[in-house]
Amino acid sequence: MRILVVGSGGREHALVWKIAQSQLVDKIFCAPGNGGIAQLAECIDIRADDVFGLLEFARKEKIDLTVVGPEIPLALGIVNEFIKAGLKIFGPNKRAANLEASKVFSKQLMAKYNVPTAAFEVFDSPEEAKKYIEKIGAPCVIKADGLAAGKGVVVAKTIKEANDAVTSMMQDKVFGDAGKKIIIEECLIGQEASIMVITDSKQVLALASAQDHKRILDNDQGANTGGMGAYSPASIVTADILVEVMEKVIYRTIDGLAKEGIGYRGVLYAGIMLTKEGPKALEFNVRFGDPETEAILPRLKSDLVEVMMAATDGQLTKVKNLFWDPRACVCVVCASGGYPGNYAKDKEIKGLKEAEKLNDIVVFHSGTKKAGNKILTSGGRVLGVTGLGSTIEDAINKTYKAVNKISFEDMHFRRDIGSKALR
Ligand code: AMP
Ligand code: GLY
Repeated sequence: MRILVVGSGGREHALVWKIAQSQLVDKIFCAPGNGGIAQLAECIDIRADDVFGLLEFARKEKIDLTVVGPEIPLALGIVNEFIKAGLKIFGPNKRAANLEASKVFSKQLMAKYNVPTAAFEVFDSPEEAKKYIEKIGAPCVIKADGLAAGKGVVVAKTIKEANDAVTSMMQDKVFGDAGKKIIIEECLIGQEASIMVITDSKQVLALASAQDHKRILDNDQGANTGGMGAYSPASIVTADILVEVMEKVIYRTIDGLAKEGIGYRGVLYAGIMLTKEGPKALEFNVRFGDPETEAILPRLKSDLVEVMMAATDGQLTKVKNLFWDPRACVCVVCASGGYPGNYAKDKEIKGLKEAEKLNDIVVFHSGTKKAGNKILTSGGRVLGVTGLGSTIEDAINKTYKAVNKISFEDMHFRRDIGSKALR
């Protein structure tokens, strides 16, 4: 088979790495890819949001299956266009992608189908929103309706912070049209976990659980980021909790979508808060999580291509189970100086080979490029150094040993990835 992976981050490197292990695969392309992906796939200079450029490429190169990494092409309807052209593509269609692209759609669907989630109201007027904030008080959570590159959520500790968020989203329009409508919701308290499933809207297969680390600094301090590390399994997701999440969040959502006439094919990602009243859905993503995928795929023993193909064909019932390596996996993100604000680029990365020589270590590239024989930084999140160990503790130790082999100017990383699992 000839596979095209769309995207350029650590998630896509992990996907390409796993796809490369499939017996079914002869050739992998990645658009646009990065310096690490280039070692396993032919990188093509087409942007991930250039739906028609990707379609033309897939047609010309006789691609058997396209796998979409990021949300933007899904929200733009890449799946609809590929299906129209008779091409196979793994991911949800445009209407289904609204689950991530519109938080209003997502929350209203949850409310309609009784998916446990934070109490909320939708606003299209800043005055009404601020009146409501006055009424409910702080803390509360303000969310832009549309896609905002992971920055559209403000957990406000004070009424002033909440009002400022409303002003910036609705009046200063920092996210453009994505902030035309907002949601104000109850602030939930608890630990977070990420549950992903692969589905063809009938059969649902859960991936191993994971926990992300969204804040830039140790002990969950500082600014929000795209994710500074992850580990799998998330020990707080016990078998009982997983059953509850599957029943109350995953199945109700997929069945609810079906009742709305929306068949969901692809990966469905539920961000869950484990509250005292039980698990509640914080949000949905319509794609593999990043960096959760980097911590999950090294544990997957089943052939991912076979599973994605079956889901794409609506034949997922053919796959009875996914098989997992019982070991734990930890992924530590190495970031550029300045990230998550403005960051430096084009710094030479040293020690990659030494790190990769260590047992059970794989280094996924998030933001790198090749320049001659060198690998340079090209993004805010640069690398996802990933290690397997017999326990979480073992995986943590091995992974940080590998991180310590790697260096570039002003590199920074969290030193406590996975430590919540040890408490
Ligand atoms: P999102 O970008 O939608 O993943 O949200 C970013 C983060 O905001 C989540 O991972 C949570 O940490 C936090 N968050 C979102 N909604 C709530 C909520 N209702 N209560 C508390 N924290 C929340
Ligand atoms: N790790 C969170 C996300 O992929 O959005």
